[in-house]
Amino acid sequence: MEKLKIGIVGNGGISQFHAESYKAAADRAEIYALCDINYDRALAMAGRLGIPKERVFNDVHEMVKLPELDAVDVCTWNNGHAECSIAALNAGKHVLCEKPMAMNAKQAKAMKEAADRNGKHLQIGFVRRFGNDIEVLKNLYNDYFFGDIYYAKVNYTRRNGCPGGWFSDSSRSGGGPLIDLGVHVIDFSRYLMGNHKPVSVYGATFNMLKNRPDIRKASGGYVSSDAAKSEIYDVEDLATGMIRFDNGSVISIDAAFSLNQREDRGDMEFFGTKGGAKIGSRVELFSSMSGYMTNIDLAFPTSFDFIKSFNAEISHFIDCITVPGTKCIAPAEDGIVLMQILDGLYESARTGHEVILE
Ligand SMILES: NC(=O)c1ccc[n+]([C@@H]2O[C@H](COP(=O)([O-])OP(=O)(O)OC[C@H]3O[C@@H](n4cnc5c(N)ncnc54)[C@H](O)[C@@H]3O)[C@@H](O)[C@H]2O)c1
Repeated sequence: MEKLKIGIVGNGGISQFHAESYKAAADRAEIYALCDINYDRALAMAGRLGIPKERVFNDVHEMVKLPELDAVDVCTWNNGHAECSIAALNAGKHVLCEKPMAMNAKQAKAMKEAADRNGKHLQIGFVRRFGNDIEVLKNLYNDYFFGDIYYAKVNYTRRNGCPGGWFSDSSRSGGGPLIDLGVHVIDFSRYLMGNHKPVSVYGATFNMLKNRPDIRKASGGYVSSDAAKSEIYDVEDLATGMIRFDNGSVISIDAAFSLNQREDRGDMEFFGTKGGAKIGSRVELFSSMSGYMTNIDLAFPTSFDFIKSFNAEISHFIDCITVPGTKCIAPAEDGIVLMQILDGLYESARTGHEVILE
């Protein structure tokens, strides 16, 4: 089989992880072209990967003209996701697009329409769906360990971890920690709980602490490639909300770049009729045995492994394109639902009212 030829658009931080994962799948795919509006950044990455200058671009519309290119991996700022994905799909390329799918649900729907119209594969970078912790929880869910999960409390909050740069500029990000971090844990929990349809949301956002550059050095968080160049902070620093689903279940979400709490948190709690679970650095289970309440720690490592999860995500992307009948684990329709939830939470925060989702 010929190797898939991949073009990566957006050659900043996360694309480096994607590149490593394509290298790990070198028998099936190769990075063939690169593109970044910051041409020097694209050239530097090309130098590291040994890609000739003729296949380095600063305009995605030029890169997708390469007839031999099979697929495009979109790792741009959020405001580039729809434009770059649609350009690639219209040029007959398959697309893997980083999370969040787009700036809003309208753009996300246009992306799926482009995929359907061109008969191409569109996968969303819900990397948490590929972690070994979700695999454990999914197995427990399928074995009815939880009974019915009716409530989840998910938290992705940093004490002082605004990545800066475009992440805090709403014109390029579409929002703050909710669209950046919240998307991971909302998608994870919805996916675990059976992918039910959201019916209403209620949310609030705050812009109180901003990115606190005076104590940024204390943050061990992710830093944007253009962090130093931007002083803009017009997104929320804390978002909180509730999402209600058509089966009656509810997810409660907190997402923050900056919050006066002891330490960064990234934990999710699931509450079912028979059992519960908490996942963070490990998986803890809560149930009962012989009439006694029991707490169980899994006896093997289950924490989220960034590298392995990206490898699994990209390997699955290659499978979806090359292995007939492969069912996509992170399809575009789920990306759209996530954008509807986020749009609704931001609207609720603006208006102060519950938002009913169509
Ligand atoms: N899955 C994850 O865990 C995860 C982690 C971090 C970032 N991300 C996502 O990855 C994307 C990129 O984030 P990052 O941290 O790598 O940012 P970054 O700033 O480090 O890199 C983004 C790059 O895209 C380039 N770019 C922007 N718009 C472009 C366009 N229209 N065409 C070509 N190039 C363009 C920028 O010049 C920059 O080099 C974001 O959507 C982010 O949400 C996902």
